[in-house]
Amino acid sequence: MNKPFEFNQGRPLATARAGVTVTKVGVHLGAEISGVDLRSPLADDQFKVVEDALVEHELIIFRRQDISSNNLMDFGRRFNELTVHPFAPNEGKNAPELIKFRNDEKTPPYGTDVWHSDETFRAEPPMATILVAKEVPQVGGDTMYVSMSAAYEGLSDRMQQFVSGLEGIHDMKPFRPLFGKSEEERKKLQHFELMYPPQLHPVVSIHPVSKKKVLFVNPQFTVGINGMNENESRALLDLLFRQALVPEYQFRHHWEPHTIAMWDNRSTQHYAIHDYYPQRRYMERVTIKGGPVSGVPRADLSTVRRLKYVAPAGVDTHGGHKPH
Ligand SMILES: [Fe+2]
Repeated sequence: MNKPFEFNQGRPLATARAGVTVTKVGVHLGAEISGVDLRSPLADDQFKVVEDALVEHELIIFRRQDISSNNLMDFGRRFNELTVHPFAPNEGKNAPELIKFRNDEKTPPYGTDVWHSDETFRAEPPMATILVAKEVPQVGGDTMYVSMSAAYEGLSDRMQQFVSGLEGIHDMKPFRPLFGKSEEERKKLQHFELMYPPQLHPVVSIHPVSKKKVLFVNPQFTVGINGMNENESRALLDLLFRQALVPEYQFRHHWEPHTIAMWDNRSTQHYAIHDYYPQRRYMERVTIKGGPVSGVPRADLSTVRRLKYVAPAGVDTHGGHKPH
């Protein structure tokens, strides 16, 4: 795209610490981690490598990890407590944090073939999600990921400046059709709407650890821009949603049985490709508690990245600003 990218800034693709190897597999996001066995607790120094890799690479992948549901939950709890999805069917009292996605000829996948970060309709969306492949289709069933920090960087200075300080309205809209038409179902929906009212999150968020700026709107949950009329809001959101569609910012992940993918929900979006029906695909998932989403203040020049384009000699840049 339009941003010059110095590949990996001279660093090797693979690094090893505490016996854990992290190998970069995507340009803007994605690293594979080897040298760990997630069937038992990681040593603290190994865990630190994994935790750092998640923030740096935004998506980390572990291959050949035949772990139990309890192993998955224990691994997730090393990062923070697990959260319970308010709408997805879960494993009940024993493990409400665990979601099992079983898709086959009778249960086609639903609602995940749209770009999104998980659960941004909540005041505090999860910081990360871990997904384990138990059974995968012979072909198909990949998951697409996109770095929304790269997507933000790809916007022009003018657009970065314009969207900084705006707030997106995030709503639980995809879950409304799950409720029936009966009186009881309508009451249940009202109850959930009171529990999960629309939330305002900054359009440009700041990752709490890496401090990278992130374009934090997604077509599944973001329904408007606070303070804009419908036309303006729709046009701007369409433009911003298209940033997630730029192949250069994306990574396509192919699952094998016992592959684990963990993504930083604060800086990425994902899209589960629904091309495998009626083949079977069986996955398990947990989400890890995050915090409030903080964003950049209303734009002033100091919050906007340096000028990306150097105008040819003699061309007036008409108000382009200099690096600070
Ligand atoms: Fe998701």
